[in-house]
Amino acid sequence: MAALLLGAVLLVLQPSLAPSHPVVPGAEPSQQEVLRKAGPPQEALRGAAAANGSAQQLPQTIIIGVRKGGTRALLEMLSLHPDVAAAENEVHFFDWEEHYSRGLGWYLGQMPFSAPHQLTVEKTPAYFTSPKVPERVHRMDPAIRLLLILRDPSERVLSDYTQVLYNHMQKHKPYPSIEEFLVRDGRLNVDYKALNRSLYHAHMQNWLRFFPLRRIHIVDGDRLIRDPFPEIQKVERFLRLAPQINASNFYFNKTKGFYCLRDSGRDRCLHESKGRAHPQVDPKLLSKLHEYFHEPNKKFFELVGRTFDWH
Ligand SMILES: *[C@@H]1O[C@H](CO)[C@@H](O)[C@H](O)[C@H]1NC(C)=O
Ligand SMILES: *[C@@H]1O[C@H](CO)[C@@H](O)[C@H](O)[C@H]1NC(C)=O
Ligand SMILES: *[C@@H]1O[C@H](CO)[C@@H](O)[C@H](O)[C@H]1NC(C)=O
Ligand SMILES: *[C@@H]1O[C@H](CO)[C@@H](O)[C@H](O)[C@H]1NC(C)=O
Repeated sequence: MAALLLGAVLLVLQPSLAPSHPVVPGAEPSQQEVLRKAGPPQEALRGAAAANGSAQQLPQTIIIGVRKGGTRALLEMLSLHPDVAAAENEVHFFDWEEHYSRGLGWYLGQMPFSAPHQLTVEKTPAYFTSPKVPERVHRMDPAIRLLLILRDPSERVLSDYTQVLYNHMQKHKPYPSIEEFLVRDGRLNVDYKALNRSLYHAHMQNWLRFFPLRRIHIVDGDRLIRDPFPEIQKVERFLRLAPQINASNFYFNKTKGFYCLRDSGRDRCLHESKGRAHPQVDPKLLSKLHEYFHEPNKKFFELVGRTFDWH
C-alpha cells in the first residue's frame, strides 16, 4: 500500500521534474532559470579558478540535518579528511526563499575554494525538515550524496528546547519552561514545532520521493558522540573517500565528557554550546514523550530498513 501511494505521488510529481516543462507562474524556477542566474550554463558547477588553481565548487555532498542531531560535530570530523572542503557557515540556500531566488551562482559563491580532487560539503540542518528542499536539491544534482545525522528523537526535542533557552538567556530574555511547550490541557502538545522536527519518518518520506535510499547515508548521532571513529569510517566509505581519518584523530576529554579532535597536532574541541546539559523533565512527561515517538520511530525504521537504539 505504501509503495502504491509513493508511486502515485511520483506520477503526480513527474511533470514538474522534467526540466523542459513550461514554467507555470508561481511555480518553482526551472533548472535552466536557476542556471541562467548562475551565469554560464552547465559549467556554472565550477567557479572561476584562483591563481593557485583552486576553485569554488557546488557541494557534492550536503549534511541535511537534523537540527541538534550533531551536524557540527559531523562536519568538523569530516573536515579531518584532506580531500574534504567544508563551507564554514550554514548556507540556508534551499530553505530560505531570499537565498534561493538568488540562484545557483550565489550558492556557488558561498562555497570554499578547493582543489579539483576535493569534495565540497555544506551543512544546513533545517534542510531535512523543510518540505520544499528535497525537490530543489534534486534539481541541482540528482546524483548528490546526502548525509543525515539523527539521534534519539526525545533527546533531540530537549536539546532543541535547550538551544532556544540559552539563546534567550544570553540576551537576558525570559523563556518559558519546557513543560509550558510540551503540555497543553494536561496532554502532550503535538503542535510544538520541536516535536514535529523529531518525526523523522514524515520528513524522510519527502526525501525518498526524490532520492533513493542508497543516496542518503544516516549517521547514528548517539554513536558518533560515544565512539566517533567507526561512524566516520562509514561516512568515508559512503563518500568514496580514501580511508584517511584514523583513531588517533580522536581523543577523549574527561572534563568535557566527550571526544575532541586532533588534526596534525592541532587540538580542537567542539564549542561550549555543544553537549549542554538538558533541563530536568518530570519523568512522567518524559515517558509520555517516549511513548509519542514509539510509532513514528517504528515507521522510520521500516522506511530506512534499519533500527536505532532509541527509547
Ligand atoms: C587559493 O586561493 C583562494 C582564493 O584566493 C584562497 O581562498 C585559498 O585559500 C588558496 N588556497 C591555497 C591552498 O593557498
Ligand atoms: C509535521 O511536519 C510535516 C512536514 O512539514 C507536515 O507534513 C506534518 O503535517 C506535520 N505533522 C504534525 C503532526 O504536525
Ligand atoms: C593517522 O593520521 C595521521 C594524520 O592524519 C597520521 O600522521 C598518522 O600516521 C595516522 N596513524 C595511523 C596509525 O595510521
Ligand atoms: C578538555 O576540556 C576542558 C573543559 O572544556 C578544557 O578546558 C581543556 O582544555 C580540554 N583539554 C584538552 C586536552 O582538550
